[in-house]
Amino acid sequence: MLKKQYDRVEEREKVFELMDLNTKHVLDLGTCGCDCMTMILAKNGFRVTPVDNSEEKLAEAKEFAQQEGLSESIDFRHEDAANLSFADGSFEAVVAYNLLHHCDDVDGVVSEMFRVCKPDGKIIIAELNADGRREAEHRRDRRFLKKVQKLIEKQGREFEVFDLDFTRVWIVRR
Ligand SMILES: C[S@@+](CC[C@H](N)C(=O)[O-])C[C@H]1O[C@@H](n2cnc3c(N)ncnc32)[C@H](O)[C@@H]1O
Repeated sequence: MLKKQYDRVEEREKVFELMDLNTKHVLDLGTCGCDCMTMILAKNGFRVTPVDNSEEKLAEAKEFAQQEGLSESIDFRHEDAANLSFADGSFEAVVAYNLLHHCDDVDGVVSEMFRVCKPDGKIIIAELNADGRREAEHRRDRRFLKKVQKLIEKQGREFEVFDLDFTRVWIVRR
């Protein structure tokens, strides 16, 4: 049997479909330049506020958005996802796609996601699964997914878990 190949855009599009968003404005934490979730959201007609703590990554993402004619729908912010400047309940949808495994303060980022999400909003967290980690040659091991799940459980909200080819996705409905 042929082994599935990781495709950056395809995997993000699958997660985008799973999100099933019923809002037009999304906070996307950790942008990472071209072909990232921010661009997929913008291409699909959403207004996006992407946050990244790296000036370099933001510059890359801004350039890509300009090339693709998406700048009008995107409001880039230079911020730390573990210490956001937004007021409580500012967004109807908050996304972190492959961000958490890059963060030192994972607990802080998850808490901030819940804080800035509206009471009836949606929180989407996507992280590399075992095959994803192999593809990305990433330092985190399988205990990391358990840690993420525990942090979500700690918030005491209902959530669903989905396993894609390279990604585990948690969707929290508040
Ligand atoms: C793997 S990329 C995110 C992938 C992106 N969401 C996508 O769809 O391709 C991780 C990004 O998170 C950013 N980052 C890491 N720690 C952060 C933090 N504490 N706050 C904000 N951004 C952070 C990095 O600068 C990097 O651009």
